Amino acid sequence: MSGRHFALYFPPSTKNIMMTVGVLGAGTMGSGIVQVAAQNGHPVVLVDLNEQILNKSKVQLGKIMNRLVEKGSITQEQADQTQANISYSQDIHDFKNCGLVIEAIIENLEVKSKVFCQIEQIVPKGCILASNTSSLSIASIGAALQEPSLMIGVHFFNPAPLMPLVEIIPAVQTSEATLKTTRDLIDSWKKVTVHCKDTPGFIVNRVARPFYGEALRIYEEGIADFATIDWAMTSLGGFRMGPFTLMDYIGNDVNYTVTETVFQAFYYDPRYKPSFTQKRHSEAGYLGRKSGRGYYDYSEGAEKPAANEDAVLGQEILDRIVAMLINEAIDALFLNIGTKEDIDLAMTKGVNYPKGLLHWANELGLDVVLERLESLFHEYGEDRYRPSPLLRRMVRNNERFFG
Ligand code: NAI
Repeated sequence: MSGRHFALYFPPSTKNIMMTVGVLGAGTMGSGIVQVAAQNGHPVVLVDLNEQILNKSKVQLGKIMNRLVEKGSITQEQADQTQANISYSQDIHDFKNCGLVIEAIIENLEVKSKVFCQIEQIVPKGCILASNTSSLSIASIGAALQEPSLMIGVHFFNPAPLMPLVEIIPAVQTSEATLKTTRDLIDSWKKVTVHCKDTPGFIVNRVARPFYGEALRIYEEGIADFATIDWAMTSLGGFRMGPFTLMDYIGNDVNYTVTETVFQAFYYDPRYKPSFTQKRHSEAGYLGRKSGRGYYDYSEGAEKPAANEDAVLGQEILDRIVAMLINEAIDALFLNIGTKEDIDLAMTKGVNYPKGLLHWANELGLDVVLERLESLFHEYGEDRYRPSPLLRRMVRNNERFFG
């Protein structure tokens, strides 16, 4: 009998066992996840098709460990142990003893789905199969498995060893046991886990859209230039990086693709509409730091443009972007994408926001946020600015978040 409709295999409990963790893909994310699991004492098997990338990952980890020892963050013994915990391979058959396999390969549904079906044939029964995908649905990745109840999303943030957040995303097929074992395990790695619905962008990449989108829109309308918008968000808003600096850091190609994917996945909801400015920068090869030029010029000796530090203009920019971010966070709560605690944690621990957006809404006053959105909605007549029904309801009932 096929296990398709029944959870026949229960994942092992994490108590008292150091399960072997498999990681597929030795790129940016895979290498970071391997470090986290190995530092937490797990035997780890890292598999990548590309031998050079595997070697690079190993050398890179050696450098990181040396640096941590020099800084006194870990002992030489701990560094040696972490490295000894990892084995490197080009053969997925080496996942044969794993209790959990985390996949971090290219963002392509067909490739991911196929490779999970192969892995399922190799690993012990009950092995949890997790994907680090940023934008694909977990339900679709797990659909072809014989035992899809063992499939789950675990979304780390870059760099994985430094960013505390991991979004845990059960699909419709995921069993309670898989969810609990995965969350307990990743909590035991001293990560902050939040539980999200299997919807486009999960929590962080959904709620953060206006940080980029509204900044681009403000630029396109000619209200302010890149440097001024970045200045408003950092100096007045307390964000660690302004939107344009951050997009240049992430890469305009990568950030544009996430925006476009989220937009399509939401059936073209205008709230997530991508920007021509970003598309053109991406098309021109102005990708950001990695190509030497993005919204800013990173070539040697290039001068950073000065911001127009006009306090009134800066406040207008900040108020508009923050109102849009808060609206997105409230709408995510309205649609049960996560709990209010998790939505606030996700933005502070995953993307370093200066405070949780729902706490921020309380501070500003929900009525003030609603007024700002209504005034934008009235002015532009675009659905992009529609206030969340939950925001309206809370203002009407004179409610606030967190009691
Ligand atoms: P990357 O391009 O740095 O690494 C991907 C690695 O997978 C490469 O080393 C490649 O050789 C290997 N690979 C490709 N196909 C393979 C296969 N069939 N078998 C074995 N290895 C294979 O990619 P990155 O940035 O690490 O992303 C990996 C995944 O993590 C993607 O799904 C991405 O959406 C997701 N992600 C990326 C984040 C980021 O900031 N880069 C953040 C969170 C998630």
